[in-house]
Amino acid sequence: MPTTYTSATAPGALPLLGHAPAFLRRPLEFVAGLPAHGDLVRLRLGPLDVYVACHPDLVRQLLTEDRTYDKGGLVLDKAREVFGDGLATCPAAAHRRQRRMLQPAFHRDRLPGYAAMMAEEIAGTTASWSDGDVVDVPAAMYRLTTAVTARCLFAAHERAGALPVHDSMDVITRGVGRRVMMPLPGTDRIPTPGNRRFRRARQDLKEVTRRLIADYRAAGTDHNDLLSMLLSARDEDGRGLTDAEIHDQVVTFLLAGMETTAATLSWAWTLLAAHPAIRDRLHAELDTVLDGRPARHEDLPALPLTARVVTETLRLYPPVWILSRVAAADAELGGHRVPAGATILFSPYLLHRRADVFACPARFDPDRWLTNTRPSPGTYAPFGLGARRCIGDVFGTTEAALAIATIAARWTVTPTPGRPVRPTRSSSLSPRPFTATLARRPW
Ligand code: HEM
Repeated sequence: MPTTYTSATAPGALPLLGHAPAFLRRPLEFVAGLPAHGDLVRLRLGPLDVYVACHPDLVRQLLTEDRTYDKGGLVLDKAREVFGDGLATCPAAAHRRQRRMLQPAFHRDRLPGYAAMMAEEIAGTTASWSDGDVVDVPAAMYRLTTAVTARCLFAAHERAGALPVHDSMDVITRGVGRRVMMPLPGTDRIPTPGNRRFRRARQDLKEVTRRLIADYRAAGTDHNDLLSMLLSARDEDGRGLTDAEIHDQVVTFLLAGMETTAATLSWAWTLLAAHPAIRDRLHAELDTVLDGRPARHEDLPALPLTARVVTETLRLYPPVWILSRVAAADAELGGHRVPAGATILFSPYLLHRRADVFACPARFDPDRWLTNTRPSPGTYAPFGLGARRCIGDVFGTTEAALAIATIAARWTVTPTPGRPVRPTRSSSLSPRPFTATLARRPW
């Protein structure tokens, strides 16, 4: 491991636009190519100078010194328009209190309860599938994770909540993704039909959550769901969250939880179809343990290959593939000066594709995790790390494992041949729409 870290400006900047055209044209390839230039690489995106932490050690420093490198910068500022000051976007100064208040909602003891709701929703969503159906996979997975997240958030209102939430979140998720990739300021305020739809969806979602919060407060019952936990959360002075704060957290959980897990599932189906030998082994594992029935939380320890498929899918396609921090004061990152106010980017995608960390990094190889059981921090980071690490990591991986197990036990998902599945150009690494045929397995 080097003790001195290299720093360089990426080559190929154009006058005025800098690296923005190259970044926007092929974002993933562009970012994955940056380590070739240095451990800390400087870019110019239009008028903005940004730094990219390419070395795992620098990513670790960036994410653990969370007061020096606070939430903010290019990606986060856009996300804040929707998340408000919820847990994912609030500054470090507000974070400790919020995290302490919300952590109990994701405590290990609550997982079996959420998993039971997840299992019901997965079974319900797939119940309408028939042998030979051709489905739009990302849309189907998004419906599934919406149903699961809405149910775990508002168990008492699952049907009333899920539909409007699904429609609004669909528009909002795509809107946020597009906005983040538009570094030029002002473009999101032009009254285009897309921007108007985005604003309306935000308003609708506000209304749905306002109604749900009012209903829950009026009933005063614990529904064993996330919203009940938010309503009962107290800080050390005994103060609860206001309705506006709860709204921001609900939107945060929805946005942070639905798209990420749906993308993981969609990529998993493409990877399994492209690797039939691994898919056969997965089917064998599921046949032995489940015997055709839907997966339950208590089955997961007996499904190690299913877990490795999730881990490896998150390595190849980390749904949150790029994030930013902002230097709260003049700072040093890996020995290089970073001025106050500078944006620093880091990318789990870049880290996961480093050939010096992962042998044959482009290869889908769930078995690499048989030996690499504890990757060093900063090398594998689909959930980030440090104080701002994903609060829903176990929730998300549990949901993904249950969905893969339940679906693969009964169905073979084969993407329609002919066109390779490509990622959307967005801040979240999701596949573009693609179809697949569902073949019922003999159960
Ligand atoms: C496969 C699924 C998921 C992935 C890949 C993922 C990824 C991430 C990442 C990378 C971060 C760190 C962001 C940063 O450092 O700036 C994060 C934070 C967060 N995630 Fe997730 N997430 C997933 C599922 C979920 C779920 C299911 C929920 C909630 C139900 C959730 C809620 C959050 C929240 C609230 C934060 C902010 C945590 C904090 O700042 O304290 N995520 N997630």
